[in-house]
Amino acid sequence: MPRIAYVNGQYVPHQDASIHIEDRGFQFADSVYEVIALMGGRLADEQGHLDRLERSLKELSISMPIGRRAMQFAVREMVRRNRQKDGMIYMQVTRGTAPRDFKFPQHKNSALVMTFYPANFDVALRKAAVKKAITVPDIRWKRRDIKTTALIAQVLAKQAAAEKGAYEAWMVDEEGFVTEGSSSNAWIIDKKGNLITRPTANNTILKGVTRSALQALCKKEKIKIVERPFTVAEAYKAKEAFTSSAVALIAPVVEIDGRKIGDGKAGAITCKILDMYMDYAKDHGRKQEGWHPK
Ligand code: PDD
Repeated sequence: MPRIAYVNGQYVPHQDASIHIEDRGFQFADSVYEVIALMGGRLADEQGHLDRLERSLKELSISMPIGRRAMQFAVREMVRRNRQKDGMIYMQVTRGTAPRDFKFPQHKNSALVMTFYPANFDVALRKAAVKKAITVPDIRWKRRDIKTTALIAQVLAKQAAAEKGAYEAWMVDEEGFVTEGSSSNAWIIDKKGNLITRPTANNTILKGVTRSALQALCKKEKIKIVERPFTVAEAYKAKEAFTSSAVALIAPVVEIDGRKIGDGKAGAITCKILDMYMDYAKDHGRKQEGWHPK
């Protein structure tokens, strides 16, 4: 099945998709992005991701490349043309192309590109996967609330994890508190069954769309979430741990820095939350305004 990409209004074969070498996303990481899961033919939390994309653009004074409805249409067209039911839509908006100059260009011609890649959302496989994490110092800038493509710190963190056979790197601030994963939010569960995750205030982490969905779901199910920073030492002693993101969904973490978490298997509460999230994502996707499955 040929993969189709989107570049500034054109749907093109993936291997032919390209942008200019003076695109500011390429030269300055002057760009933002979103990743939306397509599960069983339905977009998970599309509105939340598009809301955050608009917010990120606004924070950086990058103009919307096309209107919101046109963007929704383009996302659906990507789904339709790629003819897959499970995968990820990656979308990136850059400040556009201009001769290299740090200041913003005069024009407001931001660029929009999208790619699609297949993914497997098999829940049983996800529960069985032995996901390990390591901890690394958080060396990023201070506006982590903005989803920019300036991801070199996360690239280094993820590589360090991979070199130790781990899936994710939990980044740690100067006071010893976990901020978040290199591409996910970090959660632990204490002995009482409370979920603990860092607050999004002060821009120290990204406000994950999956994280927000979990907050609403847990409220409904009367599962207590305590929003507070937690230390690495606390994480080692947690009953369960997991990460949340559009790509990993709810991923159990069974080992941190070589220390087994709980009994070293996906925890019962984490599995319940994953099931809850899967039901929600499917149901929510079905209700998305303007969605016409083909
Ligand atoms: N990353 N924190 C960071 C630093 C992230 O990069 C991500 C997502 C999240 C979770 O956000 P959400 O639940 O909205 O996906 C938290 C995406 C998936 C990525 O970079 O591929």
